[in-house]
Amino acid sequence: MTGAGRGIGYDLVKQLSEQQNAVIYAGVRGALAEYQQLASLVAQFPDVIFPLKITSASQEDNTAAAEYVRSKEGKVDVIIANAGELGDRMTISCSGRADRSKAGPVVSFLWQS
Ligand SMILES: NC(=O)c1ccc[n+]([C@@H]2O[C@H](COP(=O)([O-])OP(=O)(O)OC[C@H]3O[C@@H](n4cnc5c(N)ncnc54)[C@H](OP(=O)(O)O)[C@@H]3O)[C@@H](O)[C@H]2O)c1
Repeated sequence: MTGAGRGIGYDLVKQLSEQQNAVIYAGVRGALAEYQQLASLVAQFPDVIFPLKITSASQEDNTAAAEYVRSKEGKVDVIIANAGELGDRMTISCSGRADRSKAGPVVSFLWQS
């Protein structure tokens, strides 16, 4: 899950953490301590939710994140590319299809199988 520190991403992590056998990598772009709600949830479910540094469209960050998850789990079932901001004040640099440029990051992460 990208953008797991607050908003919809945080709520989805919280809901998914209640699923049996869930293993969730909660992507945040800052240190976990910056996201109090998520930090509390990680403390509550330390074997279920794992914080992971992910900045959308950062190839370096996301290659490192992919390699880390691969080393821990060997596979990923679902990636939720939630991180983003709505409106004219978009801070994410987009690439790919120009018509999606206001809808969020087209290149959110890289995953090599
Ligand atoms: N809320 C709505 O009504 C609505 C409607 C349609 C679509 N959406 C989409 O749903 C997604 C989540 O919305 P929301 O309302 O939960 O937004 P939000 O409360 O503003 O949260 C945005 C999340 O994305 C993270 N983020 C922003 N830019 C990032 C980047 N470049 N790299 C990594 N993380 C980044 C933020 O991290 P920080 O905490 O570090 O800033 C934050 O965790 C967005 O993509 C939004 O466009 C929302």
